[in-house]
Amino acid sequence: MPMASLLLLLLLVLLIIPLSVLLALRLLVRPRTINIPIRGRHVFISGGSSGIGLSLAHQAASAGASRVTILARSVAKLEDARDSIRRATGADISAFSADVRDFDAVKKAVDAAGPVDVLICNHGVFAAQDFETQDLEVAKFMVDVNLMGTLNLIKAALPTMRRSRPQRGPGSIAIMSSQAGQVGLHGLAAYSASKFGLRGLGEALQQELIEYGIHVSLIFPPDTETPGLVEEKKRRPEVTSILVGYSSAMQADDVARKTLNGIKSGTFTIPCNLDGLMLAIATAGLSPQRSFLIAFVEVILAGLMRLVGLCYLWTWYNLIERWHAKQEQSQLKWNV
Ligand SMILES: NC(=O)c1ccc[n+]([C@@H]2O[C@H](COP(=O)([O-])OP(=O)(O)OC[C@H]3O[C@@H](n4cnc5c(N)ncnc54)[C@H](OP(=O)(O)O)[C@@H]3O)[C@@H](O)[C@H]2O)c1
Repeated sequence: MPMASLLLLLLLVLLIIPLSVLLALRLLVRPRTINIPIRGRHVFISGGSSGIGLSLAHQAASAGASRVTILARSVAKLEDARDSIRRATGADISAFSADVRDFDAVKKAVDAAGPVDVLICNHGVFAAQDFETQDLEVAKFMVDVNLMGTLNLIKAALPTMRRSRPQRGPGSIAIMSSQAGQVGLHGLAAYSASKFGLRGLGEALQQELIEYGIHVSLIFPPDTETPGLVEEKKRRPEVTSILVGYSSAMQADDVARKTLNGIKSGTFTIPCNLDGLMLAIATAGLSPQRSFLIAFVEVILAGLMRLVGLCYLWTWYNLIERWHAKQEQSQLKWNV
């Protein structure tokens, strides 16, 4: 066979294989693509008085939501947030004070707010500490607020959300996880436990709600500059800071933008930066995927991302080993 024909054959094979995989994935991926508008909808945001939630509320209002409802505990912070969003956007903003751990209080607020189109379960608390020295009450607090609080909020909003779908169009339940909900990190044991749980919740819920036109999203931000992070950093163990220091913190506005864009396209896993995208590919598992293009990237890069992940683990375990060695040395100096 002449060289030119051989090259043409090789090129065809090289093109046909990926194109066939793309075609197969186009038929395979579920659920189907969807468009969930923000304009003209009622967007309900827990933890909407601070940080990422406050940015989300501002952006949803700017994007033309007919109504934005925020829920948190502190009345003073809620009022400040409501007034600042009203001043900036002129939008219709409601604020409710409730602790997400209290189902009855959450239900009362959700019922008073009226049918929700986009529910963003964003509230959250985080305290980094070695699990052995962390007070069990602190660990329980994180699980109660982050995991049980999200279950309470969804349970309270779901009946009316579901009933109103035929008249109001597709709805969304977006759950704020964290990169600590994709990978466990030294000092974040209880927080990670609460955030990993949200993924199971989201995956199961998506199967239960797909027939009713409710689409689930999970957001996985890295460290993000917010009042919550400022507080957490004051007590963060040194070794956690060293490990987290490898990726840079995002701005709350950027995380909020990624979140709203992801919600609009019904994306199940919403990463917020390049690290997050790699983490999403490495931990894709059986998470729903609507985009055949992203599914293609997941299929092609799965092995490579595992290799990258192993390199990260190698670095982290080395850093942890070195940190312990340094601690032991300074201990010895003190004892001399
Ligand atoms: N910042 C980060 O680095 C980062 C990274 C990854 C993921 N996240 C996640 O992103 C979400 C928002 O974090 P953030 O950094 O924006 O936090 P933040 O600035 O501390 O804001 C947290 C919000 O949640 C509300 N909240 C806390 N506990 C509540 C409760 N029991 N009931 C009702 N509302 C409650 C707070 O208001 P009240 O205190 O008045 O109740 C506040 O509005 C959280 O789920 C967090 O886990 C954050």
